Amino acid sequence: MASVSPCVVISDDEQGYDLDLFCIPKHYADDLDKVYIPHGLIMDRTERLAREIMKDMGGHHIVALCVLKGGYKFFADLLDYIKTLNRNNDRSIPMTVDFIRLKSYCNDQSTGEIKVIGGDDLSSLTGKDIIDTGKTMKTLLELLKQYNPKMVKVASLLVKRTPRSVGYRPDFVGFEVPDKFVVGYALDYNEYFRDLNHICVISETGKEKYKA
Ligand code: IMP
Repeated sequence: MASVSPCVVISDDEQGYDLDLFCIPKHYADDLDKVYIPHGLIMDRTERLAREIMKDMGGHHIVALCVLKGGYKFFADLLDYIKTLNRNNDRSIPMTVDFIRLKSYCNDQSTGEIKVIGGDDLSSLTGKDIIDTGKTMKTLLELLKQYNPKMVKVASLLVKRTPRSVGYRPDFVGFEVPDKFVVGYALDYNEYFRDLNHICVISETGKEKYKA
């Protein structure tokens, strides 16, 4: 049986950090409650994921497929770390990149309908922002099957603990988080907050202000 990949588990009672302890763009000052995962911690965990991926995939050519838009920061940083390992190791992973766009959310709720846009060279390793229920990833994996890839591995920065989960678990996970809506580091609420370094919890003011 496949073992569950270890990750950083953030407990339900984690309160996060006061916004004043970190640098936050002025335009979001009232729209956030807490810093939940500081940018430095995201980077440190991503560096380690790159090493795990290297250990697992070293030698194989991979097509790294970025799931836009929410996955773009994680994808770029993960690939930077893999590139650093590639030029400093005896083993390296030859890589090409591709991009696909999936859309399913309005406000903080899934619409249930998943739109797929783009992508021409599909795929071996997909870089994803967050797995909530797992429905989006299941849909994407079904789509990728049509291209008969030798192997598909999924790296997701976040996995949510939610009763709505369909039971899907990616191969590489950065953090397991409680069932809260989070933004920042390319994760959005109606397209806002992608320009925020840290992963944060949105405030009621923020939810109201940027409501669709
Ligand atoms: P799933 O299909 O329920 O797993 O949802 C995955 C997608 O929903 C992600 O790729 C995001 O676009 C979006 N999503 C789910 N939870 C959050 C969140 O907490 N913040 C921002 N986007 C989220």
